[in-house]
Formats: sequence, structure tokens, C-alpha cells
Amino acid sequence: MEFKRNIIITGGAGFIGSHVVRLFVNKYPEYRIINLDKLTYAGNLANLKDVEDKENYAFVKADICDYETVKELMEKYNIDGIIHLAAESHVDRSIKDPFTFARTNVIGTLTLLQAAKEYWESLPEGYEGKRFYHISTDEVYGALELTNPEGIESPFTTKASSEHHHAYGTEFFTEETKYNPHSPYSASKASSDHFVRAFHDTYGMPTIVTNCSNNYGPYQFPEKLIPLFINNIRHRKPLPVYGKGENVRDWLYVEDHARAIDLIFHKGKIADTYNIGGFNEWKNIDIIKVVIKTVDRLLGRKEGEDMDLITYVTDRKGHDMRYAIDSRKLQRELGWEPSLQFEEGIEKTVRWYLDNQAWMDNVTSGDYQMYYDEMYKNR
Ligand code: NAD
Ligand code: TYD
Repeated sequence: MEFKRNIIITGGAGFIGSHVVRLFVNKYPEYRIINLDKLTYAGNLANLKDVEDKENYAFVKADICDYETVKELMEKYNIDGIIHLAAESHVDRSIKDPFTFARTNVIGTLTLLQAAKEYWESLPEGYEGKRFYHISTDEVYGALELTNPEGIESPFTTKASSEHHHAYGTEFFTEETKYNPHSPYSASKASSDHFVRAFHDTYGMPTIVTNCSNNYGPYQFPEKLIPLFINNIRHRKPLPVYGKGENVRDWLYVEDHARAIDLIFHKGKIADTYNIGGFNEWKNIDIIKVVIKTVDRLLGRKEGEDMDLITYVTDRKGHDMRYAIDSRKLQRELGWEPSLQFEEGIEKTVRWYLDNQAWMDNVTSGDYQMYYDEMYKNR
């Protein structure tokens, strides 16, 4: 079968990648989607059970650092688009093992860029109709100050903004904000963003970079705050809150990120950057309380009875205080609007994890459990 487009999505077996693959496979039967993933601890084909038999979907187990394999794949499938999500993504792991982050996030991205360059430059039409779309994070911008610890009414909103609707400072990350990464994770992502832009500026590759805020939703690996805490509350295990729990993150439902990626892949301006976020800031401790109440209610426990699981532990090294994305450019230029308000999104998310205990049990067994015990043995 001839496909209209042939697209590689890297990291498609991970959290956000699986939502992007699902969206593209279902929405565009005329596209062939090749999911290229190494299946690290964070990659799980169970995340894609519902699309694995579709004719326009193929899975290839490969490392993005493997130049020959990536190049062969591009030739074999006549690839005209790459949506690049594969990465090491957890800040705490990057603090313990920065080299793995440099390898996958920096060398892996460079390997993909170079393979795409060699392949696309060998074609008669060159870069015409091609696209290299790199998914990045707001963490590359560094940290904002918590100038309003009690919260002020946020000057901006989207449909994703919570009813509580606070901003904890007056500054936001815009596309012009200077890069200032602090963690090995964000430093590796910043470096990969620079390589992507350099391939546009040097070779004319049609690239796009987007920087998104914290995602939440189904299929997130339970080392990240929300799924980890949902699982711990269910099993009445302590909830390790770093520092005072006052750090602020800006949360977006994962399917709204996937919809933004779809829109930007098709309509975004080449060589441009878009920030993606829902103007939905939360202090960790407040979000934790909402999660506890929601889990308790859905499990038929007394709402709030698990508050005593909250356990303040040693702070993360170099813990960024506040992230807050200004996504007005994306709204203005491409008309993106998130679909789900935070209160609805959290309810849906907690329900999903409680209904999918088998998924959770599977990913919290074996290797991961060993890692988890090592990571938290002193807490
Ligand atoms: P994740 O850790 O859940 O998934 C990463 C995926 O990449 C996994 O399937 C893993 O197997 C794969 N992978 C890792 N190393 C690989 C390699 N060397 N070769 C091939 N595949 C490899 O990550 P996520 O949370 O879904 O994040 C996806 C992307 O979005 C990342 O680039 C991340 O920086 C970015 N991002 C994440 C968030 C967030 O809140 N999770 C926010 C903004 C941006
Ligand atoms: P995380 O989900 O790791 O995302 P990121 O560090 O990329 O923002 O963490 C979200 C916030 O929650 C962050 O401020 C660190 C904090 N946190 C805890 O307090 N305890 C935990 O066990 C985890 C995993 C995170």
C-alpha cells in the first residue's frame, strides 16, 4: 500500500510518545507511522495494544544512537517526517547518571539529525516536503522565582487552567527566554535543542522545536510525581515530598500536548519554536492533596484520610523552584487550545491508574523495583 506520508515517531512506547502514536495512527490512516523505540525501562509496548494491529503502524526496536539502523530505516520506509520524543526523561535519574542522558538526548538526537540529513540530501527533491520535529521541555529555560508564594490571580488562562487559577510569580517562560538549564536532564535537552536549530541554520533542514510544561495522564511511568503518588496512596505507602513541597509546576493533560504536536507538525512554521502549556500552575503540596483526596474518594475511603502518608524528605539537588509557560504564541498563531480542565484531567487520570492496576503492577516489578528501592532506601 502506498502511504501519503511516512513518519518515524521516536520514543513512541513511552508516556507522551504512545499518545502521539495513537493519535496519528487513528487520525491519519493514509500515513504510515513507524514507532522507533529502544524499549528502555520507560518504554512499554503495552501502552499501544489498541493500535498494534493497524495496517499503518509498525514498531521497530532500535536505539536512536545507532546511525546505520536509523539511516536504513529512513531509506526503507522513504521517511519524510520525524517526530522525535525518545529521551531519558527523569530529572532524579539524571542526577545519578548524567552520562546516559548525554548519550541518548544529545548523541541520539545528533544521530537522528545526521541520518535525516544524509538521506534527505540524497533525494532529488532534497528537503522539500520534509520535517524534523523535536519535542523538548520548558526545563531548558531554567527556573523562575516564587515571587508570590501565596499565589496571585493568573493574568492568563486557557481551558486547562484549574479552578484555583493561581500564578506564583509574575514572570513566564516565552520563546525568547534565554536558555539556562540547571539539571543534567535539562542541560542535555537544551543541548539537543541547539543541535536541531544548528541543522536548520547550517544545512537548511526544515526543523521545528517545541517546549512543553509538565504532562500528566495515563501511561506515565510511576517514577514521576503523579502516578508514583497515586500508586503509593493506593498501597498506603509514604509519599516522599521533596523539600517543603513548595516548588511550582505547570501541568498539562498529555492528550492536549499530543494534539498540539499534531497541529504544529502540520501547520507550524519551519525553524520556529512554540511553547506549549495550559497556564495551570500548582505547588507540589497542593497537587498532592488533590491527588490524595481524589484517590481516597474513588477507592471509597474517607476523603483525605491518607493525608498522613505525606512525608517530607531531603530536597532534590538543584531543585528548580518554578516553571510557568507562556503559550500565547501557539494559541494566537495556530489557534491551539487545550480541551480538558485540570480538575477533569486529574479525575480521569486517577481513575485510569486505579482501573489499570495490572499495567502498574507490571511496570513496578523487576528491574524498576530494584531501581526504586536503591533510589529511596534512605527516605
Ligand atoms: P518517557 O521516559 O516516558 O519515554 C521515553 C521513551 O524513549 C521510552 O519509550 C524509551 O524506551 C525511549 N528511549 C529512551 N532512550 C532511547 C534510545 N536511546 N533509543 C530509542 N528509544 C529510546 O518520556 P516522556 O515523558 O514520554 O517524554 C517524551 C519526550 O517529551 C522527551 O523528549 C521529554 O524530554 C519530552 N517532554 C516530557 C515532558 C513530561 O512532562 N513528561 C514535558 C515536556 C517535554
Ligand atoms: P517530576 O514528576 O519528577 O517532574 P519534573 O521534575 O520534571 O518537574 O516532579 C514533579 C515535581 O514533584 C518536582 O518539583 C519534584 C517533585 N517530586 C517530589 O516531591 N517527590 C517525588 O517523589 C517526585 C518523583 C517528584
